Amino acid sequence: MTIWVPEFGASAPDAKAIPRYRQIAESIGKAIEAGELSPGDRLPPQRQLADRLNVTVGTVTRAYNEAHHLGWVQSRVGSGTYVRDQDSSTASAFGMQPRECSDGVIDMSLSFAPPHPWRQQCLGEVLASIASDPATVAEVGEYQADIGTPHHRQALAAWLNNLSFPVFGSLIVTQGGQHGIDLCLRILTRPGDLVAADALTYPGFNSAARHAHLKTLGIPLDEYGMDIAALERLCQRQVPSLVYVTPDQNNPTGAQLTEERRIQLAELARRHDFWIIEDSVQYVPSADRGTSMADLAPERTLHIFSTSKLLSGGLRVGTLQVPDVLRERLGSALRAQSWMVPPLMVEAACRWIASPRAQQLHDWQVEELQFRQKLAQQRLAAYHPRGLARGSNLWLPLPEGRRASEVHALLDQAGVRVATPEPFCTGSEAAPQALRLCVGSPDSRDALERALNIILEVLEHEGTSPWSTL
Ligand SMILES: Cc1ncc(COP(=O)(O)O)c(C=O)c1O
Repeated sequence: MTIWVPEFGASAPDAKAIPRYRQIAESIGKAIEAGELSPGDRLPPQRQLADRLNVTVGTVTRAYNEAHHLGWVQSRVGSGTYVRDQDSSTASAFGMQPRECSDGVIDMSLSFAPPHPWRQQCLGEVLASIASDPATVAEVGEYQADIGTPHHRQALAAWLNNLSFPVFGSLIVTQGGQHGIDLCLRILTRPGDLVAADALTYPGFNSAARHAHLKTLGIPLDEYGMDIAALERLCQRQVPSLVYVTPDQNNPTGAQLTEERRIQLAELARRHDFWIIEDSVQYVPSADRGTSMADLAPERTLHIFSTSKLLSGGLRVGTLQVPDVLRERLGSALRAQSWMVPPLMVEAACRWIASPRAQQLHDWQVEELQFRQKLAQQRLAAYHPRGLARGSNLWLPLPEGRRASEVHALLDQAGVRVATPEPFCTGSEAAPQALRLCVGSPDSRDALERALNIILEVLEHEGTSPWSTL
């Protein structure tokens, strides 16, 4: 049998600029596209390919990892690396694009955890460990308590504690942060109620509020987070049922609420008797966080967290911690929706967070985001971008005269996807001329660097006027 050997090397015009492992990975993609490699084909063993190409085994391992990231191949333990069935990728069917598509587009528009092969490896390992444990298989195959089994809730509470989040009241297992938001709105509001949030906030909150037929009001925010004095003025006219905050890292601007404002918010909530939803899904390491609203006002704070930004977005497992008085209402809401969160997914998440890899992945991610933030902030310094030192989002105000829609379109044409501010606007707030870049989302540091170069080029060159109407 002849083995497939990639063609790459000096013939490509910019071959020298592209690291070897990427060239090998790209040639795998090209061979699949050209039909030279078909689903199920086995790639050459790493050592054999390294010898044939005169590169190190490490280079081939990196290349295969890269091809794995891009969804082209999968590895089978003890058996080798195989070409994946490309149709099995459903991401594009749901409007989600791979982060760096085969056409070279670099996607910084969606908030993903930075890619690392450990994510797929951990998920594979925990699923295999469940499969080989008949007692657990029997348990997760049965109906369980609405808010989660006691041992799952304990494991998730221990994880929160490990990450230095407050552990208080009742912990409800959710299908991720978005589900937590939706549950809060279901039990705390009635159609027509007023709810308040930062003028720019996570679009999933605004969407859930719209579905619940709520009136949303955006409270102005600056680099220190929500303007609590403006919220106070609102309370004098009409008290919202709840205020949704992301105090440690606003999505999209990266703003962090100051300690003083947190204390003012807790006092205001007590004075006017409204609930606080504290969303910590956009993970910030404990050393970079302020005091949790759940510590300042535990009797009226609902705290949301999720495995999405630390482990994997596909697990759909999160936590909602609430004052005990809300526990029954939440159990009832959960039963009405789906009875419970699938225990199989919760079991997978709990095994994952208990493994040493979880801590290693966490530490790697924190460092990786720090590197990427620094790189992006340095490269775009002339435009005064904002973002936490180890945060996932970078907020890029556009220079005088440039409009977000125009720059977004130019970047799209140049192969870089970023988010415009419109989806983040609460209520009828006007959108600023700025863009959100998710620095963690590109597949690699190289890809991030390429995207930053393109962004700089687009910003430095005056585009033609988008004026085309009378
Ligand atoms: C602030 C915030 N809350 C909640 C979510 C949704 O989290 P999950 O994917 O766990 O549903 C996101 C997702 O990006 C987010 O940015």
